[in-house]
Amino acid sequence: MLSVVVGGLFGDEGKGKVVAYLAINDSIDAAVRVGSVNAGHTVLWGGKEFKLRIIPSAFVNGGSKLFIATGSLLRLDVFYREVNTLGVAGRVFVDRNAGVIEERHVETELRDEYLRNSIGSTLQGVGAAMVDRVMRRLRLARDFPELSSYLADVVDEVHKVLDAGGNVLLEGTQGTYLSLYHGTYPYVTSRDTTAAGVLSEAGLGPKLVDEVLVVFKSYVTRVGGGPLPNELPADEIVRLGWVERASVTGRLRRVAPFNYDLARRAVMINSATQVAVTCLDRLFPAAAGVKEWGKLPLEARRWVERLEDEVKVPVTIIGTGDETHHVVDRRKDVGVGR
Ligand code: IMP
Ligand code: MG
Repeated sequence: MLSVVVGGLFGDEGKGKVVAYLAINDSIDAAVRVGSVNAGHTVLWGGKEFKLRIIPSAFVNGGSKLFIATGSLLRLDVFYREVNTLGVAGRVFVDRNAGVIEERHVETELRDEYLRNSIGSTLQGVGAAMVDRVMRRLRLARDFPELSSYLADVVDEVHKVLDAGGNVLLEGTQGTYLSLYHGTYPYVTSRDTTAAGVLSEAGLGPKLVDEVLVVFKSYVTRVGGGPLPNELPADEIVRLGWVERASVTGRLRRVAPFNYDLARRAVMINSATQVAVTCLDRLFPAAAGVKEWGKLPLEARRWVERLEDEVKVPVTIIGTGDETHHVVDRRKDVGVGR
């Protein structure tokens, strides 16, 4: 069974938390991470906070193999640091053809006024490395002898897991509206962040997909430049308790109320079969830590039902707190997924 998890907004929807929950609950055999180190996924597991930039958030399941996709771009220092911090050596594999970001890519972006001031790039060298890839001069993982013990044909390995009836979780990064093609160009990242894009990065065909889970947060945030409809002023963000900082750059996130137009379009572009909503407890504090649908406050249930009505896709996973287990899982009740 292949499930794809992607962000439905501007990134930072809480994909890390959703993926960690699914990895534990659904006995994942393999997890695949796409994208690059500009995207940070936060996972709170066993009372510890992890900020992951390249290793799949599904690492919390100790039985899962962890794959870094062909289409991804890694930085060696970030990769080794995470492998050591998480203690995942032996079960993490990098595709031979994954790209490698080098110091000069970071330097190129740091010198780029347009990326820094207009786009608000994270300046991690991802776009510059992507340019080299397109120009066919980027060095790939197979060109670095020090990576040899991690190298694999990830495409083949993941297909083997699927052929054997295993569960695979494909972990997208960033969000639909940061997509190079479907986002708010030019205020976007350097890749296609949608379900089709992440499948392509992983070398998995569309007919293999069983579930596409699009993740929304219960309000909208964005870091960097670009349009954000109904953006809230700073004092209002503080009053609502929605102050957030970006996990890679530490910048304050811009905030707006939930947006049904963005949600409907994200469901369409990603052909979502399910929707996850995180941070419901920030809209309805009485929802904090709740794990059963019936125990959510009535207004919170109404809010979720309105969202289902708007997007015409079942809301199956609801985040009610930062810990991985703070989830209302409605999949059995609504008869979707496993
Ligand atoms: P870049 O991809 O680092 O060049 O950044 C381009 C734009 O995408 C900037 O507005 C960034 O803030 C935004 N961005 C890139 N990665 C993420 C992410 O993981 N979460 C949120 N925003 C991101
Ligand atoms: Mg993030």
